[in-house]
Amino acid sequence: MQITVIGAGNMGSAFVKQLVRAGHQVKVTGRDFSKAQQVAAANPGAVAVATAGAADASDVVVLATGYADAVTALKAVGNLDGKTVIDITNPLTADYMGLTIGHDTSAAEEIAKAVPQARIVKGFNTVFAQVLAEGADLGNGQKVNVFLASDNAQAKDSASLVAESMGFIVVDAGRLNNARYLEPVAGLNIYLGYGAGMGTAMAPAWIHKA
Ligand SMILES: NC(=O)c1ccc[n+]([C@@H]2O[C@H](COP(=O)([O-])OP(=O)(O)OC[C@H]3O[C@@H](n4cnc5c(N)ncnc54)[C@H](OP(=O)(O)O)[C@@H]3O)[C@@H](O)[C@H]2O)c1
Repeated sequence: MQITVIGAGNMGSAFVKQLVRAGHQVKVTGRDFSKAQQVAAANPGAVAVATAGAADASDVVVLATGYADAVTALKAVGNLDGKTVIDITNPLTADYMGLTIGHDTSAAEEIAKAVPQARIVKGFNTVFAQVLAEGADLGNGQKVNVFLASDNAQAKDSASLVAESMGFIVVDAGRLNNARYLEPVAGLNIYLGYGAGMGTAMAPAWIHKA
């Protein structure tokens, strides 16, 4: 698949690494082009591109900026008509220990309202960058779960293919408004990892009775 990653930070660079490894054609763009160039240089096969038109020719766009920058970043990458946009953002407070919105909306829904031509899929927001960078296999047969929520079935299928190509287990999390649940799950993960000192080599998962 042709995939554009917006953002060259912790999550953006980890996505580029795993997407290239999975055999996708990957473009990366950033507010600071030199950071996108560094990420591309570290992942042979990936290409750094300018923001304008960065989404052209891509099937899937990964939105890997902070929530506050998300709509501006998406609007800058060109025509998103019918494209799958994986929204990984969490609307975190400045101290990372709370969410700025929730209950009656979510980051994903607000982004979808602002960029209605895109097919938004919420996902990967519960996966620490450190986990994504290392890969989906946590050892002992444990695979990291990725929860995907969207109002567009085709877009969810595309996001599932992307997640599975990188080795993740996909959990269908229903409609986009279930991002109202997924974003707090990320908040709990951050509390456990950083607040409670459990570290970042872990991820939330849904388990079934054998
Ligand atoms: N870190 C995690 O473990 C984790 C896990 C799950 C979800 N998330 C979510 O993933 C998102 C990214 O997190 P992160 O840790 O990767 O943050 P980060 O390291 O700060 O990276 C964000 C990147 O987005 C870039 N950016 C900002 N505005 C932009 C624009 N208009 N166009 C293009 N690029 C732009 C930033 O550029 P500059 O370098 O110029 O600032 C930065 O490189 C956040 O919403 C976060 O809540 C993070």
